[in-house]
Amino acid sequence: MSQPSSSSNPSPGAAPARELFGTKWGFVLAAVGSAVGLGNMWRFSYVAAEGGGAAFVVVYIAMIALLGVPLMLCELTVGRRTHLSPIGALRNLGGRAWVPLGVLFVVTGFLILSYYSVIAGWTLRYAAEAVTVGFAPDPGAHFGAISQGAAAVYWHLAFMVLTIGIVMVGVQKGIERAAMILMPTLFLIVLGLAVWAFTLEGAAEGYAFYLMPDFNELLDPTVLRQAMAQAFFSLSLGMGAMLTFASYLSRDTDLNQEAVTISFADFAVAFAAGLVVFPVIFALGLQDQVSESTVGALFIALPGAFEAMGGPGRVVGLLFFLALAVGAITSAISLLEVVTSSIIDEFKMARKNAAIGMGVLIALAGLFSAFNTDVLGLVDQVAGDLFLVIGALGMSIFVGWFMKEDTAAELARGAGEGFKAVIPTVLFLVRWVLPPVIAFVLWFAMGDALAAIGDFFGS
Ligand code: PHE
Repeated sequence: MSQPSSSSNPSPGAAPARELFGTKWGFVLAAVGSAVGLGNMWRFSYVAAEGGGAAFVVVYIAMIALLGVPLMLCELTVGRRTHLSPIGALRNLGGRAWVPLGVLFVVTGFLILSYYSVIAGWTLRYAAEAVTVGFAPDPGAHFGAISQGAAAVYWHLAFMVLTIGIVMVGVQKGIERAAMILMPTLFLIVLGLAVWAFTLEGAAEGYAFYLMPDFNELLDPTVLRQAMAQAFFSLSLGMGAMLTFASYLSRDTDLNQEAVTISFADFAVAFAAGLVVFPVIFALGLQDQVSESTVGALFIALPGAFEAMGGPGRVVGLLFFLALAVGAITSAISLLEVVTSSIIDEFKMARKNAAIGMGVLIALAGLFSAFNTDVLGLVDQVAGDLFLVIGALGMSIFVGWFMKEDTAAELARGAGEGFKAVIPTVLFLVRWVLPPVIAFVLWFAMGDALAAIGDFFGS
């Protein structure tokens, strides 16, 4: 299963002796760790329930297969081909004109991590409270008190310190080792919770609310736009995270198989999280709180439910927020790694200095979100929605039309016969389907982002 690592460095353009993942599973789990995060548990269940239940899930699966997997293959190919971080990789394969796209990736990673860490801080805090004082009897007021201001700042900083600590250590000893321990833990917790939730009274109503198919919702372009943005965000696409991880891959792995594995695992965890969230909320009759906001579902209704369950609720709640924090940390690692690896490559800086320096800057930028959740929402919309879609568009155009290497040959390297047969289809999607579809969605995302910016500064 494991392959020799760092023994050879086949890429001519890369810095000497680039550290590689030690094992195939190390890479896959790190990439799944990047994908599985707050997006799966915080956003997916809510967006799905609101967007048409099972009908949404079907469309979402189609989007992952037709847009997500091909785009992930683009990123993986570029990363593995060059063994460089995003800016260098795009320069290497496309020339200077593509450097701005790499810079956009780094900026997006920087911005997403700045607020992502604030939300992750909330989850850490809830996990700690489950152990120490239990969940608050008035979860709405409690969330109001801890989600912004000094309380939020401490936990945000604590989370950033953890993230920096792992990235600083390096690819094998930091990122890979963390993923190998944390990801199986997360899978077990989520699976266990889903089984437990099945036994709750009211589980059936919860499933019905989550999955009741409503095809009318799918005629709404906003729902489709949200589904696509959710797919990109959840798969960590459009900002070079997968590209960066693939740059630590040795040459002979089957990228096709890996893209499918990563995407499937990401979807499975998101789907399973919904199977936990809704039965719990319906068992306690807290459904009214769900429809208000995404944050409401996760950080208000759920703690409320755990509190109402008494002692067992504390255990279950601890496990739930622990899983969330674990998902968040492995995603945060990949966000910081995009920024760090670019600084290492572009400025020939030592990893430790780059990780600490950039981590501190991101932590400082995150203070704006920690002090004001309106800022958090705005940065999420601009970076997490708009920039990712722009990045995804740029990436598909680049790989489909401008890359100087033979994409088909690169994908075929190490691929099994079955996958070789679908490579022409993948290339067709990348050239002819992804750019127009993403551009169409971008149009709406831009309008929504501008409106949000206007609201923010107007009020
Ligand atoms: N995919 C992560 C999640 O679902 C978020 C993320 C986005 C991580 C982009 C890295 C890059 O929570």
